[in-house]
Amino acid sequence: MHWKLKARIQNTVSLLPSQSSYAAYFWIQRHFGGLRRMNPVSRLTAGIETWQRIRKLGYDPSGKTFFEVGTGRAPITPLAYWLMGAKGVITIDLNPYVKPELVKESLQYMADNHAEIQRLFGPLLDQGRLDALLKLHLQTDFGIDALLGLCNIQYIAPGDATRTGLDPGGIDFHTSFNVFEHIPLAILEKILAEGNRIIRDGGLFVHRIDYSDHFSHSDSSISPINFLQYSDTEWDKYAGNRYMYMNRLRHDDFVKLFEAAGQHILATEPTAHPPSRELLGSHRLKIDERFGMKSQEVLATTDAWIVSKKRD
Ligand SMILES: C[S@@+](CC[C@H](N)C(=O)[O-])C[C@H]1O[C@@H](n2cnc3c(N)ncnc32)[C@H](O)[C@@H]1O
Repeated sequence: MHWKLKARIQNTVSLLPSQSSYAAYFWIQRHFGGLRRMNPVSRLTAGIETWQRIRKLGYDPSGKTFFEVGTGRAPITPLAYWLMGAKGVITIDLNPYVKPELVKESLQYMADNHAEIQRLFGPLLDQGRLDALLKLHLQTDFGIDALLGLCNIQYIAPGDATRTGLDPGGIDFHTSFNVFEHIPLAILEKILAEGNRIIRDGGLFVHRIDYSDHFSHSDSSISPINFLQYSDTEWDKYAGNRYMYMNRLRHDDFVKLFEAAGQHILATEPTAHPPSRELLGSHRLKIDERFGMKSQEVLATTDAWIVSKKRD
């Protein structure tokens, strides 16, 4: 779908009163968008990749407590943490977006593709936990509460990662996957400050941020950096709604954000996108002055993992 048509639909739906707007948007996503068929693999992989990054830095996530910002439609990444041996997961979302039918479909996928799921986790998988999960899923009266109970997942929604109400020092890992690009800078500062309060000394922040123009995910005619040509005012007309808000912060902005929050960056894994680098080099895409001072390398970076730790 052409991205400007998508933007028009999102802007129109966002004008409806909240409840009807969310219901209409879910209906559209379910019938025409990314929720047509639920496949949990990318979110399980997000959990596995987070876990691997923690281990790579010499930490053992087994038996530890995770905190996830931005649950979204189904708590699949928290499920992955539990399947690898986490003690429990607190997952928080401003909006109570979780849909039991999507969770059920995700589990059905896992049951139908048992071998694929086992391969995905490899030696990280706690087989007993996967068996218990799939057994629970077979129960006729299966409900989301039973799943959250089994996997020790605390789902807080509506809840705000800037004000969690959690005890100081109660979590070991503060994580998110494809969430921080949707949150305004001033709120991100508060989320990290709250993270510093609730994380135990020595705990890690592990965040994966998608810097790409999300319209490019469903319109192959535009590049992942297409949105860099617009001023904030122009961009706001396309994506300044609750469904598509993107802060357009770049990798260097995020590094500064984490450092200004009193954190020490332990690892960054930015992904450069060669076709975007080439597009920038060709000067076919006129970059807005907001991004004019940034290097081509920064502008052509389309996602990153950032692992950090509160400074002592
Ligand atoms: C793009 S969704 C990502 C969901 C999920 N991580 C995934 O990959 O499917 C971003 C989520 O962050 C939530 N969110 C935004 N600001 C938040 C905040 N201050 N506290 C908690 N959740 C927030 C939104 O409600 C939304 O569900």
